[in-house]
Amino acid sequence: MPHQSVRIIREEHSALGVMLRSMLALVERGPGNPTSDYFTALRAIFFCIDEFHEAQHHPKESRLLFPKVATASQDAADAVRLLDQDHAQSEASARHLQHLLLAWEMIGWTRRARFESACGSYVAHLMNHMAIEEQLILPQAERCLSAEDWRLLDDAFALCGDARVSNYLADPDYASLLGRIRQLVAAPFVPQTRH
Ligand SMILES: [Fe+2]
Ligand SMILES: [Fe+2]
Repeated sequence: MPHQSVRIIREEHSALGVMLRSMLALVERGPGNPTSDYFTALRAIFFCIDEFHEAQHHPKESRLLFPKVATASQDAADAVRLLDQDHAQSEASARHLQHLLLAWEMIGWTRRARFESACGSYVAHLMNHMAIEEQLILPQAERCLSAEDWRLLDDAFALCGDARVSNYLADPDYASLLGRIRQLVAAPFVPQTRH
């Protein structure tokens, strides 16, 4: 039986993966008519990534999971160092990408390729980041965290902001936003809410 925090981390990764694949699908499909829907949908996806994954998921991993795992072995410490660097830089990467999107929207098609290329790299990097966490960090955590470490981690990941829900998919505050994104992107790309 996996620890609650491990289950939640995997669920949050899965939700982010769906968001990132939605983003790629949108970018591949390109703007339809009206073009404003395309930019609105991408902005809404960036908002979700920023609001939840950047503000909540990454800090909990860096604060409560990585330091314990890093003490287990040199390989674990090296992996944690790179993952922590990703966490430190990912907000700036997302901001840069949003600027490139705004440049395309404001200036026009000459800026499209630059955004699309950066978007592909951003998604690939984040997918790889989550894969390392799932394949290396979480199994290592199962081997080396104490009961008290798990209690702190489980408690932290059981909260979404102030709400005691497993993640934002179960938070009513996000339901209408996710519904709007789903309409703009077209099902079944965006994760379903839980109620
Ligand atoms: Fe992470
Ligand atoms: Fe993660």
